[in-house]
Amino acid sequence: MRLFLDTANIEHIRHGVRLGVISGVTTNPSLISREGKVDYQKLVKEICDIVPGPVSTEVLSQDASGMINEARQVAKWADNIVVKIPANLEGVEATSVLSKEGIKVNFTLCFSLNQALLGVAAGASFVSPFVGRLDDIGEDGMKVVEDIVKFLRFYQLPTQVIAASIRHPQHCMVAAKVGAHIATVPYKVLLQMIQHPLTDIGVKRFIDDWTRVMKD
Ligand code: E4P
Repeated sequence: MRLFLDTANIEHIRHGVRLGVISGVTTNPSLISREGKVDYQKLVKEICDIVPGPVSTEVLSQDASGMINEARQVAKWADNIVVKIPANLEGVEATSVLSKEGIKVNFTLCFSLNQALLGVAAGASFVSPFVGRLDDIGEDGMKVVEDIVKFLRFYQLPTQVIAASIRHPQHCMVAAKVGAHIATVPYKVLLQMIQHPLTDIGVKRFIDDWTRVMKD
């Protein structure tokens, strides 16, 4: 399973890439807004320069023709742009047109296998089931990820599943177990993934033992 960072924060993206474990980035209008009143195009282009892989950014239009026009413009910003299109009827129509033009689509805000089926049929390169938001309303978000992965495997389809709306390290482990191709993680979760108290205790004990014997 590959890891993407779910952020528009340049410092966090630089760190993730420096660690050598981040191969893509996902943004959305809320994440971009968190960076303040920025020059949207400039920010996304900068992210695309830093990241060695797909960078998803979302359209704001609500109707298919608006989404298509917006996506065509955004897709010119960099070679690694993926356009996020929402998993609704207008989004299906836009995805069908854009995928035929060779524009990569991340079919986002996906909450069911049926939505994923339509996104895949329309030619989306990625589908993004939102795990945390499903968990928030008492559903099993990771079951939706698992179902989509099984469906794609059964029919040997090339669309990749991005487990999205990841809230904690447990989500990452389960996403890997159910076979998600990618998990897009907030920076905070990336940092949490490496933490284990026994590692810290072990490092300290090695240094203490060494110092006790070797110091003079
Ligand atoms: C993914 O592409 C989305 O940007 C993101 O994972 C949404 O997460 P949230 O539900 O925590 O806002």
